[in-house]
Amino acid sequence: MTSADENKTEGTPIPIFIMGKRYLVPDSLTIMKAIEHAGYQFIRGCGCRGGICGACSTVFRREGDYKIYSGLACQTVVQPNMHLAQIPFYPALRQRYDYARAEATAETVHALYPELFRCVACNACTKICPMDVEVLDYVSALKRGDLDAAARLSFDCIQCGLCASRCQGEIPQNHLAQLARRLWGGKLAPRASHLRQMVEAIASGRYASSLAELKALDRAALKKAYAERQMEPEMAGEDWRPESDVGL
Ligand code: FES
Repeated sequence: MTSADENKTEGTPIPIFIMGKRYLVPDSLTIMKAIEHAGYQFIRGCGCRGGICGACSTVFRREGDYKIYSGLACQTVVQPNMHLAQIPFYPALRQRYDYARAEATAETVHALYPELFRCVACNACTKICPMDVEVLDYVSALKRGDLDAAARLSFDCIQCGLCASRCQGEIPQNHLAQLARRLWGGKLAPRASHLRQMVEAIASGRYASSLAELKALDRAALKKAYAERQMEPEMAGEDWRPESDVGL
């Protein structure tokens, strides 16, 4: 890295250690940008860059501090003398199952992941979660067979796997939560009537002529139509419809 490179990004240069090697990076950067600033290229361990995909789990330690911290590389800002390493993939067990045949019951979850009962309720999973998911709470819900609670409590999980990396019982919490959400969302949750109505409307050809008109537009006209489209108001209720849709 040259001093010319350093000047390209705002911020005071601070030292960080990537896989044990020292680099100077601007203190305004996230870990992900700092690693790139230092000359590395992400081939894996980087996805959305927005804290959603869970691909960029990182562990780090601060100078003079025994504790290992964790975070998402795309969301966590660098600190002076941070020692860091990427965890692009954590090899927790993910069971295979036939979703169509799987019954949405506690027995299905317990049979696929019996290690669930190795949980000692230490709460390390909750403490490490970068999304503040109450991991132990949904694990406890799964032990009792409450798929509804487990699905709701784990809704913000981004599958980064940091919980599994800390678990004394070697439980793949994130995969368990995903199973719970799949079973609950696909087989137990009430059907959304407005979704059914919309699917029926599309199937009946209600939007066929509008679609044909759009498909006939050239690129410039399409861009103009997109820019001028009626936007949904921020506080729109569930009954809101664009003017073009009213009366169809
Ligand atoms: S890159 Fe997707 S969460 Fe960080």
